[in-house]
Amino acid sequence: MRLFLALTVAFAVSVGLAEAQTLSLTDRTSTKTYTVQELLADPATRDVTIDDIVYHRAMTYRAIPTAELLKRVNAADDDYVQARATDNFSIAIPARLLKTVSPNTEAFIAIENPAAPWPPLPQNKGKTSAGPFYIVWRTSGVAEVSSEYWAFKLAALTVTDSPFRRWPGLGVDPGIAATDPIRRGLDRFVAVCMACHRFNGEGEGTQGPDLGMPMNPVDYFQPEALRKLLRDPSSVRHWPDQKMPAFSPESLPDADIDAIVAWLSYKAKRQH
Ligand code: HEC
Repeated sequence: MRLFLALTVAFAVSVGLAEAQTLSLTDRTSTKTYTVQELLADPATRDVTIDDIVYHRAMTYRAIPTAELLKRVNAADDDYVQARATDNFSIAIPARLLKTVSPNTEAFIAIENPAAPWPPLPQNKGKTSAGPFYIVWRTSGVAEVSSEYWAFKLAALTVTDSPFRRWPGLGVDPGIAATDPIRRGLDRFVAVCMACHRFNGEGEGTQGPDLGMPMNPVDYFQPEALRKLLRDPSSVRHWPDQKMPAFSPESLPDADIDAIVAWLSYKAKRQH
């Protein structure tokens, strides 16, 4: 019986790994699936050296430009690409950014060669590496590129509508001025927080709790404690399996934290 269980577990683990070794690329009419070996052998794949914000150092990868991959499917400039990882992380990235090739910005899918594996992810992100597929960015301080657009353990890229259109419940009243921080808060929530959190059921990320229901955090956190938690969750409470990352002031300035709290408060008030 024990042996049987052990075999079942080993089988499940190997199936899981086999699944994680492909990257699917889907538009509104078709899906392409690439294996690690296919992408490593792709003529567009090359060496890139990246200032890696996840590994916190310069890393050299075999990588294929996302601009090249997106040419192989139908993706308009105002589309988004939903990047799903194997760990319930799912972020909507503007197709326009993934298609950009400029001296300041270019995105790539880094491909982990099983013969030369990457190091394990630092901090609380687990004992495995960022592979087999990982979105990395060459940017010189382009604030538009959210820290969460660095999606590791990537399994699927899907061309889709803008998250604002897919999840209208996130939206704010047309009467709210374009310059109101509430709007900036919504934009930053979509670009950063929704990788892991849903809001009132809307969104795709499920690594963390829904932040709209049953209760909105502004209804049970002291405002200062909430701001502290959004900067660095371990400054409020800490345990070994804690998963929410700390955000540097470069990736999430204080004004953005205030804006996200303003949007959360706006949504909380309208629910009561
Ligand atoms: C990479 C995933 C990830 C991202 C990105 C992320 N979170 Fe979290 N968050 C989590 C997880 C997971 C938890 C549950 C606690 C833990 O394991 O750290 C959590 C917990 C929280 C909590 C505490 C909820 C409670 O009641 O305990 C709040 C509030 C929160 N997140 C807000 C945010 C906001 C706002 C953002 C965007 C600035 C954000 N999170 C970005 C993963 C994430």
